Amino acid sequence: MSDIKYAFGLWTTGWQGADPFGPVTRPALDPVENIRKLAELGAHAFTFHDNDVFPINATPAERAAAVDRIKAASAETGMICEMVTTDTFQHPIFKAGAFTSNDRDIRRYGLRKVLKQVDLGAELGATTFVMWGGREGVEYANSKDLGTAHARYAEGIDTVAAYIKAKGYNMRVALEPKPNEPRGDIFLPTIGHAIALIDTLDNGDIVGVNPETGHEQMAGLNYTHGLALAMYVNKLFHIDLNGQNGPKYDQDLVFGHGNLLDAFFTVDLLENGSPNGTIAPYQGYRHFDYKPSRTEGVDGVWESAAANMKTYSLLAEKSKAYRACSDVQAAFAKAGLLDTSTTMDAGETFESFLAGEDPCIDTLGERHEGLVHLHQLALNHLIG
Ligand code: GCO
Ligand code: MN
Ligand code: MN
Repeated sequence: MSDIKYAFGLWTTGWQGADPFGPVTRPALDPVENIRKLAELGAHAFTFHDNDVFPINATPAERAAAVDRIKAASAETGMICEMVTTDTFQHPIFKAGAFTSNDRDIRRYGLRKVLKQVDLGAELGATTFVMWGGREGVEYANSKDLGTAHARYAEGIDTVAAYIKAKGYNMRVALEPKPNEPRGDIFLPTIGHAIALIDTLDNGDIVGVNPETGHEQMAGLNYTHGLALAMYVNKLFHIDLNGQNGPKYDQDLVFGHGNLLDAFFTVDLLENGSPNGTIAPYQGYRHFDYKPSRTEGVDGVWESAAANMKTYSLLAEKSKAYRACSDVQAAFAKAGLLDTSTTMDAGETFESFLAGEDPCIDTLGERHEGLVHLHQLALNHLIG
């Protein structure tokens, strides 16, 4: 499994544990130390928000010095910067959104901050630009004109994509859906919502999604199904893997430390594609966006970082054995998964189709696909 490439956000292992109910429980972590330690643990790449590395009010000289340190750490460790993203959620200016703020000056400031981070990402060789619009939403109905807000969100995203093209950067945009938190309702709450908006953009060809495990599960949705849709329409540009236990606040647990069975099928799809090959395996970095729990000390930060990679690797091995198992393949065949036939014949007319003879519905009603047996085979591989 050593060919799997793992990546971490600097804000993950760098999280100090502050939450709405209490202050930090761990000391600050220097970004350079963070990169070094992740490299030691076997990660291949890092990602960051602008303000993970320099403060929002940094002078140009301070910013340049901070960026130079990151570049040096990258060169020293061989850790690649594969993705960057922008903090458009912490400062009070963004409390009612950046791209969807009702205030034009705020929108222009937010967009400028994002374009500057696109430039920095390109400078560092990042090929993905993530946009998580955590403040793009509302608590109260009619806080924003919903037509104008979506139009402005689309304008902002399209402008970022147009800028990337104008500059000739080798970079694609990945939108990260989330249903709520910090806003009561966030715009583009799910993978499907994001893909629908992308379809309206002029530069949508370089805009895809960055789905996070817990975000879909917070909405009670099946993450693996969301990934499958994104892969089917060639829009899975990046991924945020973590753990979640059903619909509640965003837990950001270690990957697999929430719903383990769902995690297994997520890895199975990413590593192996769909059973009959209609969806190809995922090629990008296996990127973790988790939080080392607030209960953990500094050791626990690194134990949890390692746990993400270990759990993913173990599940990847299990998924390979599952797919290679002849009983599983026989169960796939019995259930009908290996049949890729279309429903209509090629070139079939509506007339000839409608004139076709109906099957015996009672006989077909007795069809039994052996799905419980198939599922138990997965469990045998996972825990047997
Ligand atoms: C969250 C989000 C963020 C984003 C990050 C990158 O719920 O807090 O997942 O962690 O992934 O801001 O854009
Ligand atoms: Mn999250
Ligand atoms: Mn995320």
